[in-house]
Amino acid sequence: MNPKVLISGSTGQLGQELFLIKDLFHNYDLLFFDRNAWNISNADQTKALILEHRPTFIINCAAFTAVDLAEDQADQAFLINSEAVKTLADYCHEYNIFLIHISTDYVFHGTNAIALKENSIKNPQGIYAKSKSLGEDYIIDSKCMHIILRTSWVYSQFGNNFVKTMLRLGATRKELAVVNDQNGCPTHAASIALFIAYLLQHYKLETLQEKAGIYHYSDSNPTNWFEFANKIFEIAAMDVKVNAISTVEFNAKAPRPLFSILDTQKLQNTFNYKIHDWDLE
Ligand SMILES: NC(=O)c1ccc[n+]([C@@H]2O[C@H](COP(=O)([O-])OP(=O)(O)OC[C@H]3O[C@@H](n4cnc5c(N)ncnc54)[C@H](OP(=O)(O)O)[C@@H]3O)[C@@H](O)[C@H]2O)c1
Repeated sequence: MNPKVLISGSTGQLGQELFLIKDLFHNYDLLFFDRNAWNISNADQTKALILEHRPTFIINCAAFTAVDLAEDQADQAFLINSEAVKTLADYCHEYNIFLIHISTDYVFHGTNAIALKENSIKNPQGIYAKSKSLGEDYIIDSKCMHIILRTSWVYSQFGNNFVKTMLRLGATRKELAVVNDQNGCPTHAASIALFIAYLLQHYKLETLQEKAGIYHYSDSNPTNWFEFANKIFEIAAMDVKVNAISTVEFNAKAPRPLFSILDTQKLQNTFNYKIHDWDLE
């Protein structure tokens, strides 16, 4: 019998990209659960699924990701991004399950221009950021086997993301205002999914256990949202004028980190993995 991998949040960007490449996970049985089949904030359901399937890995793709909405729904954000993650991590520890969890560049809020390492000082601002940061802390405290992948600026053909927003707005407007003072690396959800497949194909559980910890994964080649928007319209051959504005002018409800560039060297060196530029066509 193949070892099992339970995947939560299967209808999200990462969940769906993992589903697309499920055949790359040789010798594993992947089981995908949407929010109805597995609500991670339901501890009884989490335990029942673990006892039913006895998985070797859990990949937690479930999260409350609506950054601005989180400011109004703090209870929900902390319930899903912190408390449910604590429950998951505690069960992973109890039942010897390796947890692969996804976290975010938002745990940082620096403005200095040095790529952020795994041990850079966290400074989460806003509810989403704080709830994700606490989720990380709970995983570490639980002592479960884990890899926490911090990533940034995720997009894909699925769900809600910046690329889809630009294409939607660009279809009806000739001009758009986009912030040019937030720096980061756009990351295709498919490339995160491919890295996770690579991990499970190339490393035995014991080796992963030795290498457990936090890793930064983003596609390479830093940019800002203004440049990213221009690239999107260039590739889509859409004639949309993009006007640069500042974060202060844009005035989003939740604070955004101005500098989100993640240093991915630890991951690339540890796992002998080459990350590619986001804008390779
Ligand atoms: N998107 C980004 O730019 C970004 C950047 C950095 C890090 N991340 C992290 O990367 C991970 C994956 O992000 P993503 O973009 O794939 O997210 P996403 O598209 O928003 O998907 C999140 C999924 O979680 C599900 N979900 C929400 N609450 C749940 C619950 N209580 N139980 C079970 N499922 C629940 C959602 O289902 P419903 O839709 O049915 O609610 C959805 O399928 C997240 O941990 C996120 O914090 C994302």
